[in-house]
Amino acid sequence: MNKVELKPNIYWVGGIDWDLREFHGYLTQRGTTYNAYLIIDEKVVLVDTVKHYLFDEMLARIKEIIDPTKIDIIVSNHVEMDHSGSLPKILEIVPNAKVVTSTMGEKGLKRHYKQDWDLQVVESGDTLNIGKRTLHFVHTKMVHWPDSMVTYIPEDKLLLPNDAFGQHIASDERFDDQIGWEILKEEAAKYYANIVLPYGDMVKKAIEALSGLEIDMIGPSHGVIWRSFIPQILEEYGKWSNYDSEKKALVVYDSMWGSTQKMAYKLMEGLEEQGIPTTIRNLKNTHISDVMIDVLTSRAILVGSPTLNNGMLPSIGAFLTYIKGLRPRNRIGFAFGSFGWGGQAVGEIEKVLTDLRWELPVESLKLKYIPDEDELYKMKETGKTIAEHINKES
Ligand code: FEO
Repeated sequence: MNKVELKPNIYWVGGIDWDLREFHGYLTQRGTTYNAYLIIDEKVVLVDTVKHYLFDEMLARIKEIIDPTKIDIIVSNHVEMDHSGSLPKILEIVPNAKVVTSTMGEKGLKRHYKQDWDLQVVESGDTLNIGKRTLHFVHTKMVHWPDSMVTYIPEDKLLLPNDAFGQHIASDERFDDQIGWEILKEEAAKYYANIVLPYGDMVKKAIEALSGLEIDMIGPSHGVIWRSFIPQILEEYGKWSNYDSEKKALVVYDSMWGSTQKMAYKLMEGLEEQGIPTTIRNLKNTHISDVMIDVLTSRAILVGSPTLNNGMLPSIGAFLTYIKGLRPRNRIGFAFGSFGWGGQAVGEIEKVLTDLRWELPVESLKLKYIPDEDELYKMKETGKTIAEHINKES
């Protein structure tokens, strides 16, 4: 097991979850890591831990560097169990270690573990001297839990922001430049869109709070460590937290007998004729967590479902439930679909898009059974009209 030294006497001691393919409803096709960091100073500090089943891997990495019983302090930046899950086991080895956490972290850890640990609560802005270094703590409430906190080490220009700036990638590479910006941008976008998106205002506040700090390395709690693409990832977080979009469209649909599919492709034709790049996602074969990557940057989102049993298809229902929770803002919406008799699906979709406070400049469209040539022409024209609204407003 090779030691990974980020800075003199600061090590990565995390666990690599090569097998993980699902993370509370989010497909993690590349697996993930849970990153923990060990700082060797006059006090020995462990920042965060790993999911419980990777405890032995974390412990082995620590043992490569130091006797684990020498750990004095454990910083818990975030209570969620992918980062706190190995606290009980490490505290069996160092029962006298102090656990440093935020105010909400204290409440969360007590609710999760029901243990009488030596907890030290730090407020935002508090510091803790550990010898040659001082740990600075900044609360980043709701990025993405109430307890979320970052740890900053000014002497090393190192930011340990837990979930922020994470990516779900299992790799034997530890640094961003070993993977490359294109893959990282996609995985960081997917991570943001599926986990952080509802909290854009809080992300902005967090970025503001961190803006005065000198940072040349960011060690998130998932994926690789940023050292070469820091300006790029900060720029993307700025855009994402502002709910910015690009002049492009996304058509998300499912179909029973191909009619809603035909409508979807005609909408795309109209959009593209007007110069709007358009992505089509069929929910029969695309997972909603992957669709969120397109939602993150598309100005218009067109959602189509036929009517089944007086409502929309369950796949579209799941997508809309998911997106209602993630609450992307400032989008143009459009609902469409085929039907046989009741035709309720389109109205149901429209209601969700309205509840999201998206702009719906074009009336929803539903077509009976199988669209004819005139109706398909109308779909294409509707795509063009939506394109005009995108062009007007972008
Ligand atoms: Fe990676 Fe919110 O846990």
